Amino acid sequence: MIPDYLAEALGEVAADTTGETAGYIPELATADPERLGAAFAMVDGEVYGAGDIDTAFTIQSISKPFVYALALSDRGFDQVLAKVGVEPSGEAFNEISLESGTGRPLNPMINAGAITTHSLAGPEGLQPTQRVERITDGLSAFAGRRLKMDESVHASEMEHAHRNLAIAHMLGSHGVLTGDVRAVVDGYIRQCSLLVTARDLAVMAATLANRGVNPLSGERVVPEPVVRQVLSVMFSCGMYDAAGDWATQVGIPAKSGVAGGLIGALPGQIGIATFSPRLDSHGNSVRGVSLFERFSSDMGLHVM
Ligand code: DON
Repeated sequence: MIPDYLAEALGEVAADTTGETAGYIPELATADPERLGAAFAMVDGEVYGAGDIDTAFTIQSISKPFVYALALSDRGFDQVLAKVGVEPSGEAFNEISLESGTGRPLNPMINAGAITTHSLAGPEGLQPTQRVERITDGLSAFAGRRLKMDESVHASEMEHAHRNLAIAHMLGSHGVLTGDVRAVVDGYIRQCSLLVTARDLAVMAATLANRGVNPLSGERVVPEPVVRQVLSVMFSCGMYDAAGDWATQVGIPAKSGVAGGLIGALPGQIGIATFSPRLDSHGNSVRGVSLFERFSSDMGLHVM
């Protein structure tokens, strides 16, 4: 029944061909724009799906809440909050958006904050490659299987990383980032280049919904207070400058990525993931947003 419902929902949004694949990363611009899938992972471990739920694509910004969770677990709240705030920026994901005075990025969902939280994953003093390993291990634990990296997407994005390098140099000038800031950007882009499927993303979201325990493997990935912090920030900042529209119309903590993935996590209930590569002007999947609007209203998922 749930797969039938999902297939029907996909059929309804399939006709919408508005939006564009992410043009600023050449390897993403060539993605098949017709791909479409949706998956539900329940906190009891059941997974349902329809469409392209086993097609791999890069996680991109959907990595941000999970790496924020790892940084909070590895370094503690005080150390992370001293460097990254929790306020919505009201700006696009790749704006500089630093707090005046301190230079602290406004939140961990925009690039400035995510580059900083990348640098805070793992214990202090890790080499850049060890940090990427810590993150790959951590995100794999959220997914319940070993994730691989797409080296060609990483190389393609590094060639066009001027904005992220500029943001990282600004962070360096404020002392928010220290050491080799180019290596931090390289690691952040590697984190964004991890390959996932909609099925994986639904399980990752369900691990948040299940308060930090992966419902398939039973592994506790991060502590419960960390999950509360992450879901709160996803609710207020996960959809960037569309966060207010999203909070009122969909009302589920969520995060999007420029390869076309979109996740939502409803505490105690369900992790949801959709995949469709064409994006709106905020960098959110057009058909993904429509699907979430429908799921929220059909199943009464709005948290308010
Ligand atoms: O930093 C970037 O530009 C990308 N690697 C990730 C951006 C992203 O996915 C924004 N989300 N919609």
